Amino acid sequence: MSAADFEGWSRSQLSAVEQALERWVPADAPASLGLAMRYGVLDGGKRLRPLLVLASQQAVAGQAEAALRAAVAVELIHAYSLVHDDMPCMDNDVLRRGKPTVHVQFGQAQAMLAGDAMQALAFEVLTPDAGVPPALQARLCGLLARSAGHAGMAGGQAIDLASIGRSLDEDALRDMHRRKTGALLQASVLMGAACGDCSAGAWAALADYGAAVGLAFQVVDDILDVTQASSTLGKTAGKDQDHNKPTYVSVLGLGHARSHAEALRQQAHGALARSGLGAAAGLLAVLADKVVEREN
Ligand code: IPE
Ligand code: IPE
Ligand code: MG
Ligand code: MG
Ligand code: MG
Repeated sequence: MSAADFEGWSRSQLSAVEQALERWVPADAPASLGLAMRYGVLDGGKRLRPLLVLASQQAVAGQAEAALRAAVAVELIHAYSLVHDDMPCMDNDVLRRGKPTVHVQFGQAQAMLAGDAMQALAFEVLTPDAGVPPALQARLCGLLARSAGHAGMAGGQAIDLASIGRSLDEDALRDMHRRKTGALLQASVLMGAACGDCSAGAWAALADYGAAVGLAFQVVDDILDVTQASSTLGKTAGKDQDHNKPTYVSVLGLGHARSHAEALRQQAHGALARSGLGAAAGLLAVLADKVVEREN
């Protein structure tokens, strides 16, 4: 796939996701809750998880309405995880997506509630009265719930906080990263695949692809935390070391962290090669490269 083809595709998909978020995240929730929710999710973010859902849906020629809903739902879960991640009881960050964090802008109680409501809204979006077959709704809810909960993101975040000031070995670090970040990215890929007909072999390959890209994403996040400026990241740089967090950089060193991200990129491409999806997986191939090459 050419760079121009990918850019054209991603521009149109990002605009559809943005419009759907604009439509589905309410402004009129009581007592400014809607404002805090919209502040946390609209107008910012790379929208990588939605793009993974939609690229995977393209690979299996899946149902468009279901995939758009899945794309919005996973972004809502991700954005909620960021709102909570930034709170003083977690990473205590004041900058996110180039703006003051939700708790700085709206207060801690409102940030907590906005995250709660965004999580619930994700599942509301996945369960419309019409337009998506009930069995597919249930499948998408299951994939998203498992990746967001104790076995995935929330569990990984608990390990992250329990690991402050401790040195993890590489196995424990990988387990934490797979849960806190990898699970939601892998679920994005699988939700897209669930929207179409996907053989067992292709499903297993896409799960491997999602696991490799998901882990690579957090390895690169750890690298960017030490190599980029806050102005590029739109969030505070250098905070992992400040907060004494074990990361791929602190455990493996910068050079090895980079080569690990590169190896994961190769694993992702290898998984696509054995998926049997051929050229239909072209968008996913470009996204694997973007995850590793990104600068913010
Ligand atoms: C940041 O995710 C948090 C991690 C899971 C590492 P992103 O880098 O995707 O953040 P946005 O959505 O673009 O702001
Ligand atoms: C965040 O990891 C993972 C989440 C589940 C939100 P980080 O704490 O490293 O994310 P950033 O660097 O603040 O975006
Ligand atoms: Mg964190
Ligand atoms: Mg953080
Ligand atoms: Mg980070």
